[in-house]
Parts: sequence; C-alpha cells; structure tokens
Amino acid sequence: MSVSRGGKRAMESLLMVLSLAVVLVHLAGGSPPPDPVNCMHGTSNCTITNTYGSFTDRTICRAAKVTYPGTEQELVAAVAAVASTKQKVKVATKHSHSIPKLACPGGDDGTIISTARLNRTVCIDVAKRLMTVESGMVLRDLIEAAAAAGLSLPHSPYWYGLTIGGLLGTGAHGSSLWGKGGAVHEYVVGMRIVTPAPASQGFAVVRELDADHPDLHAAKVSLGVLGVISQVTLTMQPLFKRSVTLVRRDDSDFQEQVAVWGDLHEFGDMTWLPHQGKVVYRRDDRVDVSTPGNGLNDLLLFHPSPTRGLIDARVAEERLQENSTDAARCEAAALQAATSERSSNGFTNDGVAFTGYPVVGYQHRIQASGACLNGPDDGLLTACAWDPRIRGSFYYNSGFSVALSKAPAFVADMKRLRDLNPDLFCAAVDARVGVLLRYIKASTAYLGKPEDSIDIDIVHYRSRTDGMPRAHADVVDEIEQMALHKYGGLPHWGKNRNLAFDGAIARYPKAREFLGVKDRYDPEGLFSSEWTDEVLGISGSPNIIKKGCAIEGLCVCSNDSHCAPEQGYFCRPGKVYKEARVCSFIKDY
Ligand SMILES: Cc1cc2nc3c(=O)[nH]c(=O)nc-3n(C[C@H](O)[C@H](O)[C@H](O)COP(=O)(O)OP(=O)(O)OC[C@H]3O[C@@H](n4cnc5c(N)ncnc54)[C@H](O)[C@@H]3O)c2cc1C
Ligand SMILES: *[C@@H]1O[C@H](CO)[C@@H](O)[C@H](O)[C@H]1NC(C)=O
Ligand SMILES: *[C@@H]1O[C@H](CO)[C@@H](O)[C@H](O)[C@H]1NC(C)=O
Ligand SMILES: *[C@@H]1O[C@H](CO)[C@@H](O)[C@H](O)[C@H]1NC(C)=O
Ligand SMILES: *[C@@H]1O[C@H](CO)[C@@H](O)[C@H](O)[C@H]1NC(C)=O
Repeated sequence: MSVSRGGKRAMESLLMVLSLAVVLVHLAGGSPPPDPVNCMHGTSNCTITNTYGSFTDRTICRAAKVTYPGTEQELVAAVAAVASTKQKVKVATKHSHSIPKLACPGGDDGTIISTARLNRTVCIDVAKRLMTVESGMVLRDLIEAAAAAGLSLPHSPYWYGLTIGGLLGTGAHGSSLWGKGGAVHEYVVGMRIVTPAPASQGFAVVRELDADHPDLHAAKVSLGVLGVISQVTLTMQPLFKRSVTLVRRDDSDFQEQVAVWGDLHEFGDMTWLPHQGKVVYRRDDRVDVSTPGNGLNDLLLFHPSPTRGLIDARVAEERLQENSTDAARCEAAALQAATSERSSNGFTNDGVAFTGYPVVGYQHRIQASGACLNGPDDGLLTACAWDPRIRGSFYYNSGFSVALSKAPAFVADMKRLRDLNPDLFCAAVDARVGVLLRYIKASTAYLGKPEDSIDIDIVHYRSRTDGMPRAHADVVDEIEQMALHKYGGLPHWGKNRNLAFDGAIARYPKAREFLGVKDRYDPEGLFSSEWTDEVLGISGSPNIIKKGCAIEGLCVCSNDSHCAPEQGYFCRPGKVYKEARVCSFIKDY
C-alpha cells in the first residue's frame, strides 16, 4: 500500500522532471563541469577524480602535484622533470571522462600532467585534408575548427566534451563499418609523443610518428602508458551532410537486423528497449551537400538540466529502485521512452524546431553534441546531468564489444533472457536510454578491436551507498558476462566496472606488440599505474575481492558474501548463460 503510494509519488516527480527537461531543450546555459584536479596548495598536494567524481571503487586518487604545460617545449620540460627524478606520472585532461582509474598516477605522490592548456589547432592543410591539433583540444572545438575550414572528422564519439588525446587513449568511437570505420584512431596519420629518455638526451624526447611508423599502432590507442601525446594529425574529409531518421520497430527480427544495419547505413546504430520489445533504428546516411537542411543534433541527455530537477529526479529514481514495484518502474520507463520520442531525442530540423524526419544537416552539427558544456556558468542553477557537485544522476556505464559475426547469437541470447521476464528490464535498462549498439571496424591499433564488432552500451543505476544492490541488477550482470565470456567480448577501455577487465588483455592478439613498444618508450613504467598494470596483465588483477564486491562490479561473485545476502541477494548462476554468476534477489530467503 505504502509501496504503491511511493511509486505514484515517484512517477509524479519523474514526470515533472521530464517535462522540465523538454521545456529546456532550446535554452542555453549550463555550468561547465568542474576541474577533475584539486590541490591544497596551488599546484601541490592534489586529488584527481573523473567527471563523475568517483572511480569504480568509489575512491579518488592523490598526487603530489599537477602541471599545466601550454606548449610542447613546456611539455618536454615537464616529462624531463619527472623522468630525472623517476616519479610516477599520468596525463589528465580538461574533464577526465574515463570511469576506470586511468587518470591516476601510480602511488599517491606522483605528478599529473594536464593537457587543459594544450588546446590549439596547430595547422590545417585543406588541400591535403589534414588537420593537426594539440592533444588537449576538446572535440567540440576540433569539430568546429574543421568545419570552418570546410572539413569533417567523419566519425567521433557522440559527446563532444572529450579531448582528442583522451578519446584516442581509450579507443573511443562513433558508429560505422564503412571506410575506415567508426573509431577516431583510424583517422590518425601522425602524432608527436613525448616520452622519458636517458640523461644523455635530457630525460625527455619528442618522437614523431608518421602514418607508416609501426609504433603508431601502439600510440593511437595507448591508455596513456607510452608518454604524453603532444600533437595529433588527422586525415579529414570535405565537409558533408547527413540525413538522419529514427525508426521505431518491434524487435522480432533484431538479431537479423544487427548483422546488416551497419552495412546498409554509414552512420547506423540501434537502441534496444527490451521491456517495450522495440528497437529504435538510426537510419543515418551521407547525402550531397546541396540537400536542403540545417539540422542539429542536441541530445537531451547532454543538455543542461536544472539542478532542482536533477535532485528531484534522483530522489524519484532512488525510490523507484529501493521501494517500488516493477509495474511502477515499467510505467516510468515507458514515460521516459515516450518523452524522448516526443522530443525526437533532441534532433531539430533547423536548430530550433523539429518538424519531421529526415533531419538533414552538416556533419559537424550532427556527429556529436554536449550543450551542457557550453555555459555560461550560471552558478550551478543548471549543469550536466552527472555533475558531481549536485546530488543528481549517478550511474554505471557498461561498454563492451562483441565480434559482428557473433552479434546475432548474442542478441538472440539477450532476447531469451528478456523473454523470461521483460518487467525485470525496466529498472535496469529501459529506465535510462536502453541498450545502445554501435559498429566498429577491425583495427590495426594493438589495443583496438581485432575484428569488426558491435559495441554495446548500457547506462544503469548506481547507488550512492557502497554495497547497496540495484533492482534486478542480475540481468545487466548476466548480459555483461555473456558478452565478455560466452562471446569473447572486449571492454571499452574508458568505461566499465573492474570485473569486465579481468583477463581481457588475453583476448587482444597484439598485446605483446603493445607491451614491446611500452618497454621501449617508458622502460621504467613511469606512466604506468596500479590500474594500467592490472588491466594490461603486467601485475595484479583488476578484481577487488571483498564483501559485496559483485554488487559494486568489482568482482564476479563466487560466494554469497560477494553479494548482499542480508538484503536477499545471493550468488546464483545466470538464467540463460548458466556459467554466469550474478547477484540474484531471492524473494523468500
Ligand atoms: C558523457 C560521456 C559520453 C561518452 N560518449 C562516448 C562515445 O560516444 N563513444 C565512446 O567511445 N566513448 C564515449 N565516452 C567515453 C570516453 O570517450 C572515454 O572515456 C575517453 O577516453 C575520455 O576522454 P577524455 O578526454 O575525458 O580523457 P581522459 O579520460 O582524461 O583520459 C583517458 C586516457 O587517455 C590518457 N590521455 C589523455 N590525454 C593524453 C595525452 N595527451 N597523451 C597521452 N595520454 C593521454 C589518460 O591518461 C587516460 O589514460 C563517453 C564518456 C562520457 C562521460
Ligand atoms: C595534503 O593535504 C591533506 C588534506 O587534504 C593534509 O592532510 C596533508 O597534510 C597535506 N600534505 C602535505 C604534504 O601538505
Ligand atoms: C584553451 O585553454 C585556455 C587556458 O585554459 C583557455 O583560456 C582558452 O579559452 C581555451 N581555448 C578554447 C578554444 O577553449
Ligand atoms: C525505502 O524505504 C525505507 C523503509 O521505509 C526507508 O528507510 C528508505 O529511506 C526508503 N528509500 C528511499 C530511497 O526512499
Ligand atoms: C566467501 O568470500 C569471502 C570474501 O572474499 C571470504 O572471506 C570467505 O571465506 C568466502 N567463503 C567461502 C565459503 O568460500
């Protein structure tokens, strides 16, 4: 009785928040995200975190100091300073978006080199379609500068707050199987990287890698362990236009479509709403620049949200998670999907209004978005939804890829799990954006995808309380373990919880070549940390085994204490993938 009243209240506040979000679609504003580095004394005695204010184990990291080089010369001096004294060092960026501990120097008294001031265009060669930028340049600025010169970066992540150095570091991508594919590192044709060096060379050198240099296969996806990338040269295309239509269909032939959609549409992707039994297919193709249209992609998710609304929505979400029924959760999820459909997910035909599909627009207005980044600072009246200064949205992002050849079987397995009880997916999956599937081509990057793949993204609830279970967390956990272990999947280097990285390096056929380059560039491992050693299989394990670790995604459970038995969550086999071990809620324990 009180449960259903709670559910109703939750629905009401959620409704309010969603309608607020829709009203705000066309407003500017948004306090930009905070600096991930904070120091007690000027630039010393510092902490570093990510854009969410929390790494996977809920800690933040410490470092002795931070330095902000503004030129390559200053960057070389910064690397020489740490190399001459053998300090641990790591590159951080303007906002450090990666969820795992990639931004932390080893130990707790290392040095952070921030690329926040390395944000300029170095040169643009329009005739050769080459663009060289400093590594800290924010994707938004890169895309804009390219467009101003009549050029396009053909593929990019969907959020433009990332830096070019940082997004390359984790192999970030958009969606495409065409040409060189959807990952940004495929378009890197040159790089200048600063690495430690012997005293005889002044403790630091700039290595210039051209398109044919074999080390570029290591440097273009490097987790930051090779040194600091100073500049990146990208091969660009003439500015083009795209035509986008979001098509909502039932998911009866989803497993067949996943195999072909990426061949049919250059920028195609898919969003699966398991409870609704629908797939939103993004039909997205290049069109002639003479095609009329000045469309804009202004994704709702990346829009500035009123702080008040974020807090209310979080309260509603927590209540739905902790004290509600599946019926209420499914109602809220359906509302969420309807709102996003009604707002055409932030697409407009002219930057103001949505009048219908297709939305035709220039590449730089369609490829990525991030309005909440653009300010002006309004003193936290509005912000990005995940801003850690607000007790708003807080979530996990599981991102992993499965070889395209196995994608139909994987999708069929996910559907089998859904068919057992679709309602369980409301709280876990439908309540957010659903399951996003994007295409990535096989790469020559040693830490890139060895085969043509689909990348799967699931954004799901994370409690602010350590060890607090998510409602029906076992369905996402089973999908994750199925992808990684039944289908040999690979975690996105910049997303995911610890468990996803366990043993993953063994599935990279070129890992040894990568480590060879690392040994030559940074033989003392100054740019390596505990986390990078763990995920690269050098020492230790990314898993943290302790009470409640599977609830937190720090381990796969092997006994009940890794779940939350006192709250009814026990370590049990998966329902479709029996080899999975997930924390399942047992009603009558
Ligand atoms: C809202 C949001 C949306 C996202 N959307 C997508 C998406 O659509 N597609 C996708 O693939 N990913 C996406 N991501 C993940 C994101 O692309 C990665 O986490 C990316 O690596 C973050 O880039 P960053 O500039 O914040 O770098 P950071 O997270 O700060 O750094 C990443 C790594 O690169 C290293 N590094 C950074 N700069 C340099 C340099 N100059 N030289 C050497 N090493 C360096 C760092 O040390 C670190 O190891 C998203 C993340 C968020 C938060
Ligand atoms: C660094 O700051 C912490 C507080 O965050 C303080 O306890 C510590 O003493 C400081 N260390 C140094 C070396 O200043
Ligand atoms: C580049 O960084 C500097 C220093 O942080 C800043 O003042 C400037 O506005 C930045 N440029 C762009 C295009 O963001
Ligand atoms: C859920 O209910 C319990 C018991 O009534 C209460 O202590 C808790 O605060 C509630 N949680 C939320 C998020 O409302
Ligand atoms: C279960 O795991 C915990 C924590 O890792 C450990 O202390 C305990 O001994 C394990 N119990 C069994 C029965 O294996």
